[in-house]
Amino acid sequence: KQAKLTIEKDFQISKIDKRIYGSFIEHLGRAVYGGIWQPGHPTADEDGFRRDVLDLVRELQVPIVRYPGGNFVSNFYWEDSVGPVEDRPKRLELAWRSTEPNYIGINEFAKWAKKADTQIMQAVNLGTRGIEAACNLLEYCNHPSGTKYSDLRVKHGVKDPHNIKVWCLGNEMDGPWQTGHKTADEYGHLADETAKAMKQIDPSIELVLCGSSNTGMPTFPEWENTALSWAYDSVDYISLHQYYGNRFNDTANFLAQSDDMDHFIRTVIATCDFVKAKKRAKKNINLSFDEWNVWFHADASDADTMKNRPWQIAPHLLEDHYDFEDALLVGLMLITLMKHSDRVKMACMAQLVNVIAPIMTEENGPVWCQTIYYPLLHASKYGRGIALQPVLTSTKHDTIDFTDVTDVESIAVWNDEKDEVTVFAVNRSLTDDIVLDLDLRSFGDYRLAEHIVLENPDMKAVNTAEHSAVIPKLHTDRTEKDGNFYKANLTKTSWNVLRFV
Ligand code: AHR
Repeated sequence: KQAKLTIEKDFQISKIDKRIYGSFIEHLGRAVYGGIWQPGHPTADEDGFRRDVLDLVRELQVPIVRYPGGNFVSNFYWEDSVGPVEDRPKRLELAWRSTEPNYIGINEFAKWAKKADTQIMQAVNLGTRGIEAACNLLEYCNHPSGTKYSDLRVKHGVKDPHNIKVWCLGNEMDGPWQTGHKTADEYGHLADETAKAMKQIDPSIELVLCGSSNTGMPTFPEWENTALSWAYDSVDYISLHQYYGNRFNDTANFLAQSDDMDHFIRTVIATCDFVKAKKRAKKNINLSFDEWNVWFHADASDADTMKNRPWQIAPHLLEDHYDFEDALLVGLMLITLMKHSDRVKMACMAQLVNVIAPIMTEENGPVWCQTIYYPLLHASKYGRGIALQPVLTSTKHDTIDFTDVTDVESIAVWNDEKDEVTVFAVNRSLTDDIVLDLDLRSFGDYRLAEHIVLENPDMKAVNTAEHSAVIPKLHTDRTEKDGNFYKANLTKTSWNVLRFV
């Protein structure tokens, strides 16, 4: 088995929008309560935010965080979550059958976002509500003062507007599970009218239209065609959501699923461009892949909790415990996003803390990193700059659902400001170490600075609060240099980051 990657400075896909390394915090399970916010915890700051969590979020350099849902948003009454905390009502939360205490709302979350050095991607409720509630929330958040809702914000102690730039027009409105689920025509019409009204209030905002909840939806991709046919002129992005799992314990097939993600992205781009042609439009609609991850480990216990122990505040929900192979698929998904950086301008790993998350907290203990934390960390830190067209040849294999799956997936990112180039590569062969031949001729005298590797003989190895079995290691003995050609030995089933400076 073999692979070769040729990269050339002048063959560029696009400057990567750093927002593809975004994340997501939903009012779900222990993401907010007991996750980012836990007054009384030894690390809590003056606002009750866990400092240990903030440190890890800052380390990840998360540029944007989607909030407050998710399915949660489709029955969310934002007015309940602002003003004096003691006056805020507790509400039945229908998506996750929990109780929402409204201790944290947009003003507190904006404080947290500032501390985390990140921007907010705010979703509005187009499930049980509509234009009016969306406009009022936007006025509350972004209008300086002198009107009903901007003055209410000032009265609530927040003088300066939050100036939230990116807004999602609902969430997964194609899904029958969504409160207020709609047909594509119903949604497209409502989204268009809401978008137009919101842009009257603040023309500087960017709007995300709901696309399909996953590639398996029976309405995909007709949903995109219909919704865009309504709202093409008034929105800027369309969303994609996708989660994968290894339900049949078939690792080769599991690791091939990034090919499905690639196909998903290509189809949505084609659909956007089809509608562009129909409309004789000038602008492009870009993609916001604002939910992606592995999600399946905790399905059974979540169903049990929601059915048999409903209406808890911050129950343990979606606490997937990620293993080593999950980290590999996450790495492959990140490479796929980078490859499409000419059209994918935002993406959110779902989610950030405790809920299908890279960061976990112990209630009376420390914070710790799941396996999937590391590929995200590397991509966010070193995947800034220009994505280069990967001229990649690799031997291939078939799996039960996929044909011609490359053994090696790879992409290079050139950070022209820092003058360094990083090659990300996954060897997804279950049996063979593979030498990746790297042709870096256009980079002259760049030399290898480090080769970071995530590998483990046990695909099911996990990290815990006490012990990290899956952590990246530096290797100096896996590469050979011959002029501007390198040979990098990628051990079977490994995530590799090769940094040249
Ligand atoms: O991220 C968890 C859930 O997945 C979100 O609430 C929803 O949008 C999606 O189905």
